Amino acid sequence: MQYAQILGTGSYLPARRMSNDDISKIVDTSDEWITERTGIKARHIAAPGEQTSDLALQAARAALADARVRAEDIDLIIVATATPDMTFPATACIVQNKLGISGCPAFDVQAVCAGFMYAIVTANAYIRSGMATKALVIGAEVFSRLLDWNDRRTCVLFGDGAGAVVLGAASSPGIMHAKLKADGAYSHILNTPGKVAGGGVDASPFLYMDGPAVYKFAVKALAKVGAEVLLEAGLTAADINWVVPHQANYRIIESTVRHLGISLDKVILTVADHGNTSAASIPLALDVGIKSGRIRRGDTLLLEGIGGGFAWGAVLLRY
Ligand code: ACO
Repeated sequence: MQYAQILGTGSYLPARRMSNDDISKIVDTSDEWITERTGIKARHIAAPGEQTSDLALQAARAALADARVRAEDIDLIIVATATPDMTFPATACIVQNKLGISGCPAFDVQAVCAGFMYAIVTANAYIRSGMATKALVIGAEVFSRLLDWNDRRTCVLFGDGAGAVVLGAASSPGIMHAKLKADGAYSHILNTPGKVAGGGVDASPFLYMDGPAVYKFAVKALAKVGAEVLLEAGLTAADINWVVPHQANYRIIESTVRHLGISLDKVILTVADHGNTSAASIPLALDVGIKSGRIRRGDTLLLEGIGGGFAWGAVLLRY
């Protein structure tokens, strides 16, 4: 059976960068508070009119160029996003059209901050079963538009961006092992309840989060799923060259890798510069890790993400 390998990566951040000091002019907060609790120093914010598909398109083009794959050769597009351009059609279809191609299956995956984990695992299954040979997998978000900019508990945490990978069929892995999990009993601690209905939005359109409850759940779930994929793949923490985690919060990342017995200097960290970009954060961090020369061909990577749902997962792969 064929495997899925990463042929190339790309990413995109909107031009506008907002520092903690900039935010402290809007709400009662400080660089010191945000840095100490989260590790975040700045985030990027999409321009008015700049849509998730625009961010996704830039990341996709960069990944295609990196992979030396033509858009016409892509036979599957999956976009992970919780902030689609429209209720429907899928943002993946809009991206497909903006790439100037048509015909291949294109759909969105909605697993919030775990979205990229769900998307890449789905693309892997398509490739392993022979249903696709070259897949474009994108995480893209404009989370700034879900934020109540009067709520200091949430507006300091998130940013906008996109990351993409091109996966191709290969005779060896690639993606070695993966595990996806979900538990809908925790939907009340992190959500955006409003939906389009009856000509309006039927509940709050803003992100709600019980921060301490999310923190506790996230560390436990990520440490457990990370340990499980390692064990099931017959690997140990010592086999991991780089962890590429969802970038929600420095303290969550630090605590998770400590539980796994992996040192922080093996972790790709972008949370300081990007904030939490939800489904975009893992492919963004992956691209940063590769383009900076830290992640090299042949390295073994552990990707991990968690978010609203709750939904979470981990992927082990050889780059
Ligand atoms: N600036 C200044 N003060 C603030 C801010 C802020 N931005 N936000 C909250 N505070 C205040 C609160 O009002 C509270 O004050 P009070 O005691 O007078 O009421 C105090 O700080 C402590 O609030 P807590 O919410 O208890 O702060 P905590 O130490 O838990 O830190 C944080 C909050 C950073 C959100 C933390 O709970 C956390 O990291 N949670 C994880 C959440 C996360 O990362 N979510 C990302 C989305 S989910 C995901 O991607 C997995």
